[in-house]
Amino acid sequence: MSADAPVVAVLTAGGDCPGLNAVIRAVVRRCIDVHDAEVVGVENGWNGLMENEVRSLRRDDVRGILQQGGTILGTSRRDPYEQGDGYASVQRTVERNGIDTVIVIGGDGTLRTALRLADEGLQVVAVPKTIDNDIAGTDMTFGFDTAVEIATQAIDRITTTAEAHERLMVVEVMGRTRGWIATWAGIAAGADAILIPEFPYDLDEIAEVVRTRVRRGRTFSIVVVAEGVDPPPGHDRERRLDALGFERVGGVAYQIAPELEERTGVETRVTVLGYVQRGGVPTAFDRVLATRLGVKAADLAIEGTSGVMTALRGPEIVAVPLEEACSEIKKVPPRLYEVAKTFFG
Ligand code: F6P
Repeated sequence: MSADAPVVAVLTAGGDCPGLNAVIRAVVRRCIDVHDAEVVGVENGWNGLMENEVRSLRRDDVRGILQQGGTILGTSRRDPYEQGDGYASVQRTVERNGIDTVIVIGGDGTLRTALRLADEGLQVVAVPKTIDNDIAGTDMTFGFDTAVEIATQAIDRITTTAEAHERLMVVEVMGRTRGWIATWAGIAAGADAILIPEFPYDLDEIAEVVRTRVRRGRTFSIVVVAEGVDPPPGHDRERRLDALGFERVGGVAYQIAPELEERTGVETRVTVLGYVQRGGVPTAFDRVLATRLGVKAADLAIEGTSGVMTALRGPEIVAVPLEEACSEIKKVPPRLYEVAKTFFG
């Protein structure tokens, strides 16, 4: 590596997601093997850039991590604009380490911060990540396929015990304000109803679906609930904040289940899948997607492109402006939900 080799920094911020390590590995291998560049890893998301917690990443540092869950760099939700002075709070680390471009692997909040920093002059390339699949500008995010696979397998298992005990099972999955995991896992597992934040739900209608099944001799039912749906009428959303003041979601299934039990007379149980959806090894699809996004990010960084996010568009990996990625939190479209509804009951 020459003394004037470009320096690319990489960080992972926000909630973790299967495939983060595959991106880090791809960035390191592409930068070193193809571009003869240097890579530094930033610890714990933006926090490391604010506190100068960086370390050199060599080929050996990324050996064997392709299939590992979590992130070897650590992550945090600390943000230079919320807990610092914006660009000024990361500039020192960038200058001290001679960093040319920062590759930021993150979800919607991280991308918004990356956009602001890019506007202030930081060279940034972003890679979208989230199990929630809610980032605009890309067909899919890595981590989503793994989460759907885990949720589907869980619902399959819950279905056999539901049938054995003639129960109504309410299964809550992640997704924050969107219903992508619920819709995909619900379709894949043949759910009898799927409740997502994008569309209002009516408990009486769902209860009727369950009662109709019972009349037809199907004495068990599966209702998949996205964690972000509104609580049923008469219930309040529990407001819980994490250490940095972000709202914590989860648990609405416990409000929905008794309402359905009362309306149907069918014994009802709740399963909240929680963090199993986010941990462990990525699927082969997510490993490949993460690798392709990481390679593209490295190429863009070396080219000197800034203010963009790598994205999957049809069969291609492309660069899209960060403005587009930050323009909305991508919703489940009506036509997909309509497909799911065909199989309710
Ligand atoms: O955004 C990813 C996600 O896993 C959501 O699906 C979930 O609601 C949230 O993060 C949980 O975040 P935390 O790790 O802060 O509890």
